[in-house]
Amino acid sequence: MQTHTYDVVIVGAGGAGMRAALESSSRARTAVVSKLYPTRSHTGAAQGGMCAALANVEEDNWEWHTFDTVKGGDYLVDQDAAEIMAKEAIDAVLDLERMGLPFNRTPEGKIDQRRFGGHTRNHGDAPVRRACYAADRTGHMILQTLYQQCVKQDVEFFNEFYVFDVILTGDPREDGEVKAAGVVAYELATGEIHIIRAKSVVFATGGAGKVFKTTSNAHTLTGDGMAVAYRRGIPLEDMEFFQFHPTGLAGLGILLSEAARGEGGILRNASGERFMERYAPTIKDLAPRDIVARSMANEVREGRGAGPNKDYVLLDLTHLEPAHIDAKLPDITEFARTYLGVEPYTEPVPVYPTAHYAMGGIPTTIETEVLRNNTDKVPGLFAAGEVACVSVHGSNRLGTNSLLDINVFGKRAGIAAAAYAVGAELPELPEHPESYVEGELERIRLGSGSESAADLRRTLQEVMDADAQVFRTQESLTNALGKITELRKRYADVSVADTGTSYNSELVEAMELGFLLELAEVVVVGALARKESRGGHFREDFPDRDDENFMLHTMAHPVGEGQGEAGSRVELAYKPVTVTRYQPMERKY
Ligand code: FUM
Repeated sequence: MQTHTYDVVIVGAGGAGMRAALESSSRARTAVVSKLYPTRSHTGAAQGGMCAALANVEEDNWEWHTFDTVKGGDYLVDQDAAEIMAKEAIDAVLDLERMGLPFNRTPEGKIDQRRFGGHTRNHGDAPVRRACYAADRTGHMILQTLYQQCVKQDVEFFNEFYVFDVILTGDPREDGEVKAAGVVAYELATGEIHIIRAKSVVFATGGAGKVFKTTSNAHTLTGDGMAVAYRRGIPLEDMEFFQFHPTGLAGLGILLSEAARGEGGILRNASGERFMERYAPTIKDLAPRDIVARSMANEVREGRGAGPNKDYVLLDLTHLEPAHIDAKLPDITEFARTYLGVEPYTEPVPVYPTAHYAMGGIPTTIETEVLRNNTDKVPGLFAAGEVACVSVHGSNRLGTNSLLDINVFGKRAGIAAAAYAVGAELPELPEHPESYVEGELERIRLGSGSESAADLRRTLQEVMDADAQVFRTQESLTNALGKITELRKRYADVSVADTGTSYNSELVEAMELGFLLELAEVVVVGALARKESRGGHFREDFPDRDDENFMLHTMAHPVGEGQGEAGSRVELAYKPVTVTRYQPMERKY
């Protein structure tokens, strides 16, 4: 075992982690620990854009952006946080431009902007061009740009190191101050454990889309940061709200950017009808994702789906000029050709909703400080990006607000973590902080259990797709909870065929499955208790939004077996939403 000491340790090298590192490493001794090489992080899969009210191509301002974010999130957004994000968006884009990001340009040479779902002019009049973009590779360009800047700034990376635990000085559920003291990491190449001591720990580990089977998320999106914090007693906020992106390639879930609709693409059912005209008469195909995804799923349920099994709808780009498609949407059209054998110039592309984004996560303040309950912070612990819940996305995130979130709150996290570390003492470590991780790794690696992680993961994902996806009911969620409980018990008996210590990817995947099971339970328990429909959470048995009883953030706390809601290990509390400018209204588009 090795021990290292830094002022700040950042876990995750996607957009949020590297944006944080650029700020932190110039102020304090910083290490970035990532289970991947940074340029393989999932930020690279984000396609269509990063929004900011630059008003480069038409009138726009940060207040309209704030309003759209709040309304898009079905009023569960903390409005102070959304306002900060919309205001700081402009500098966030300009920062990236100065770092060299090759944004698409207008003929006059300004950063070009395109339309995206739910982004409107003057509180809903019409779609506005707010998304700054680099073709349909915006996330890829952000990741490369930030990485180049990190290299230039000599940021220290620990690549292919899995953080399996966070070290805290006490239990956040008990009285008394609890601080962050570092992390426990597993080195993939050697199987060695590393204790990385630090005064500040920043989680920037991204989302948990692999809880579902049909997902746009990479194999690595297993919710590690969320689960690691939760296991140590940190609550998780609003986890029942999961976003299903409307246009995954049918049957595969691979993302086809909403930019396709921003550039003029149209969704059609089997009879060629532009069905979004019925569901969102004002902004049609550019309604927010929750509404479009539900409308698509409804078309299929009511028998208007396309294809031999009537189980998808069609994204029609055939009326767009091939040259326009090539210039603006080169990657996604290639995905349609490669994975479905469909030529988007001449044929509509089969699409269906795909699990895309966790609106919930580790609760933080607007300075990215992690909360241990509704009000108290854990000094030295920070989170930013998809792993965190600030909450700027409420119950449904608008497209392009994610690349924005990682830049705005990643930067804030780097500044805040460094500032805290500069003024703090290095906390003493608890005794043997490695013992929990070591025990779990040995249990799985050397155990003789009969369960396979791959089988359990497949079953979990099938259960979540069947029972906790776009449409949910008491019955489906109860069924899901029962199956997750059973899978958790079977997980105790998991073992691996590879007992080696070098590059044992089977072992780390088994560890990741533990995180997924933990989070699936939190998602389902929160969804069972939320007897209303709001944003990405749609209860067929409670189809209306209920502001009187549920205009509240869910705070899920870990408790012992059977001691939580519905016999689970999750206890729920609630916390008020911060409302500043906008009183909740009926959400129409
Ligand atoms: O559709 C997309 O390009 C995805 C963007 C996002 O999730 O923000």
